[in-house]
Amino acid sequence: MKLWAGRFQKETDTLVNDFNSSITFDARMYRQDIEGSMAHAAMLGKQGIIEPHEAEKIIAGLQAILADIEADKVEFSLDNEDIHMNIEAILTERIGDTGKRLHTARSRNDQVATDFRLYVKGEIPKIISMCLELEKVLVKKAEANLDTVMPGYTHLQRAQPSTFAHYMMAYANMIRRDVTRLEDCLERMDECPLGAGALATSTYPVDRFQTAAALGFKKPTDNSMDSVSDRDFAIEFLAACSILMMHLSRFSEEIILWCSWEFKFVELDDAYSTGSSIMPQKKNPDVAELVRGKTGRVYGSLVTLLTVMKALPLAYNKDMQEDKECVFDAIDTVEMCVPVFTAMLDTLSVVKKNMRTAAAGGFINATDCADYLTKKGMPFREAYMIVGRLVNMCIKTGETLDTLPLKDFRSISNLFDEDVYEALELKTCVNGRKVYGGPAKEAVEQQIANIKTFIEARKV
Ligand code: ARG
Repeated sequence: MKLWAGRFQKETDTLVNDFNSSITFDARMYRQDIEGSMAHAAMLGKQGIIEPHEAEKIIAGLQAILADIEADKVEFSLDNEDIHMNIEAILTERIGDTGKRLHTARSRNDQVATDFRLYVKGEIPKIISMCLELEKVLVKKAEANLDTVMPGYTHLQRAQPSTFAHYMMAYANMIRRDVTRLEDCLERMDECPLGAGALATSTYPVDRFQTAAALGFKKPTDNSMDSVSDRDFAIEFLAACSILMMHLSRFSEEIILWCSWEFKFVELDDAYSTGSSIMPQKKNPDVAELVRGKTGRVYGSLVTLLTVMKALPLAYNKDMQEDKECVFDAIDTVEMCVPVFTAMLDTLSVVKKNMRTAAAGGFINATDCADYLTKKGMPFREAYMIVGRLVNMCIKTGETLDTLPLKDFRSISNLFDEDVYEALELKTCVNGRKVYGGPAKEAVEQQIANIKTFIEARKV
């Protein structure tokens, strides 16, 4: 029999029963639901809304249910629709009529809003610490490759000299922003909806500050109507996860390219690559490809929830039950991707020689060559034009700027001298870029120090 049988003349159709039920996926919030109920019961007792001994009985009953769920001794039923009604029903079955007092001054609307926030709040620190592990690996790779010259690209064309360390720190900065985005979002969601009731609180003297504190929230939410309607905390979380995955997908793409024979800048560890069922020579970057692919799922979750919430009138609507699966799927995906990606990166080896060869062959010192002339007094635009002609000459003769005979340089400008060769050496080109944020060793060391400080500040 349904809770609401009093109002109804007929039983719920079985199709509707199954359709309406969310227990198959919201059961994973059992802990948050029980903790929320315990905080609520304690507050009801303290405020004299129920008798203190009743509150104690409810809390003990809930504790026992929690232990039994964790010992896999509890079965939930579709008939009881969701985790909230399942737990309440089990409680009443176990402790009798006192269990029926738990739902005083509460609605499933504030209950689900509270449980869901608690759940997401609990997952964010896990994702943050996974990101910090990734940061540590990025720092480690950077420290080992401060002198590993590689081309930096624009349009996937070799552009200017960089180092593998500089590259790693680029990603370290993206992940740092991902961490702070998650922290911001955690900070904003740190308000407790419990006590908002269905939408308009209640006439009982509930103490929302007490329940908020008991559940580890900074404070209760300010408006009860907003409290039960709001899912932007989850949307913001999904947006932060999507951006994080976007970063990982770009990084994955680079790793996929880099371990192709066309680049061979890196070699994946055997434990982090896979073979082919037909082509014996293959070593595939499946981990990176899956991370790239799974990024789509996380974006999908964000778009799902944005679309579910679009144009919903206040306050609660059943549409909002669709908020959970997409968020859970995104959490599972992100929590799977970040650690495996980190381990893959940690174990990959860098083929410094190939990076260097690519850097040497791609005219990435052309800007430096123009700068050489500029430093001798020529306006940059003129120098740019001259070096363009030199590059054209090199392409025709199969030379690079650093192997081009001095007479050829001088045939285009007599500002060129012997010292041009030193100026065009890759090492000079990289280490000359000492500007804050640049690829020179000392500049990258500064970037590493900044990321280390960031990680250090988050050590618990
Ligand atoms: N299972 C529901 C959900 O996830 C709980 C809230 C139900 N509230 C209601 N008024 N039907 O959204």
